[in-house]
Amino acid sequence: MFPRKASVVIKDSLKLSFEYVPKELIHREAQMDQLLMLFRPVVESGRSETAFLSGSVGTGKTATAKRFCADIMRYGAENNVPIDYIIVNCRQRPTEAGILLHLVRHFDPGFPDRGFSPSEMLRTLNGQISKSGKKLIIVIDEADLLLKKGSVDLIYQLSRFNEETINIQSSVSLILISQEYIMDKLDEASISTFKRSNAVRFPKYTSGELKAIVCARAKEALREGGIRDDAAELIADIASEWGDARYAIELLDMSARKAEMLPAGVVTAEEVRAAKAETYSVVTESKLEVLDVNRLITLLAVARSIKDQSYVSTAVAEKTYWVVCEEYGITPRKHTQFWSYLKDLDHLALISTQKMADEEKGGRISYISVPDIPSKELSKKIETILDADLPPRLYNTS
Ligand SMILES: Nc1ncnc2c1ncn2[C@@H]1O[C@H](COP(=O)(O)OP(=O)(O)O)[C@@H](O)[C@H]1O
Ligand SMILES: [Mg+2]
Repeated sequence: MFPRKASVVIKDSLKLSFEYVPKELIHREAQMDQLLMLFRPVVESGRSETAFLSGSVGTGKTATAKRFCADIMRYGAENNVPIDYIIVNCRQRPTEAGILLHLVRHFDPGFPDRGFSPSEMLRTLNGQISKSGKKLIIVIDEADLLLKKGSVDLIYQLSRFNEETINIQSSVSLILISQEYIMDKLDEASISTFKRSNAVRFPKYTSGELKAIVCARAKEALREGGIRDDAAELIADIASEWGDARYAIELLDMSARKAEMLPAGVVTAEEVRAAKAETYSVVTESKLEVLDVNRLITLLAVARSIKDQSYVSTAVAEKTYWVVCEEYGITPRKHTQFWSYLKDLDHLALISTQKMADEEKGGRISYISVPDIPSKELSKKIETILDADLPPRLYNTS
């Protein structure tokens, strides 16, 4: 058995888990207000609405959507308008059939997992929603992973519910959540639903905002005085390179566990540094997952060309890009396209680009840096993904 020891630092470890949604989402008041404004007609006049939440990893999209749904359900109940919501995560259910099954099971937990086609499940779902007499909000989280595969039909079908239904008591509203650059892919008329929906943007958190988030969470999860102020600040500083609250909470969790083992019984900067050394890989992986081959290749070129330096010029990175394309048997894209890939990677906080003085020739040139992960490590991770993703014939073109 584990030796039982009274914990000295952590008061409530559940409050440090990813699933936990705090009552107040600090610095997300504007997004909550915008959502409330957008969805008020759902409660007040029974209309259906759509919203599109976008921002990079850890900007509070999921937490805000969860908080919002719980809040509006309560608001509906107070006004005698029954509201229901379902949150489905495309990472856990990356197919249309998987998502539909999850939606159908919300109403009928015993619904069999085999034997029904997506269109049959959709029909069942429409019936269930009509019968419920409720205003339903469906949240499709991490929609990138679905859209990456070109699956847009489900979203279109769900958005059509309101045109076809006869029971006006029921309606379907949609909230789609994704990382930023996916919008580029949505250029066809079939996805006009998306374009029409109201965009709610989640900017990266600043270091100051992250500090407030870390301190608020520490107050809920740790014993009083469980973390030194400079340690909270260091966590915020580290995570601000990505603007990522998830990383900040993860660092807080990990450093608190380390402090738990030590006699001092308080999280100091030393535990934070140790936690940082262990955690960066997890953060990066979740970001790499949504990249397509072109962007992966671009990032690999950056990682390989930067080596042990702090910066690499975009010109040098582009040369490496050509080499990497050749290695993987992929036609290199034009300069402007390469630039747009870099911009996407910058948005995702996988790299950061900035203009600096050119010491040799004068003027200013663009440099790229890779925040906080050893470039070798990054290259290895990308290579693993590419090796798994690309069909082998692509290697034989040299
Ligand atoms: N404004 C905030 N206040 C408090 N906690 C937050 C805030 N934003 C994010 N978090 C926490 O950070 C973590 C990541 O947030 P999440 O909503 O999952 O980000 P995203 O969905 O954008 O990747 C969660 O544990 C969440 O509770
Ligand atoms: Mg999320």
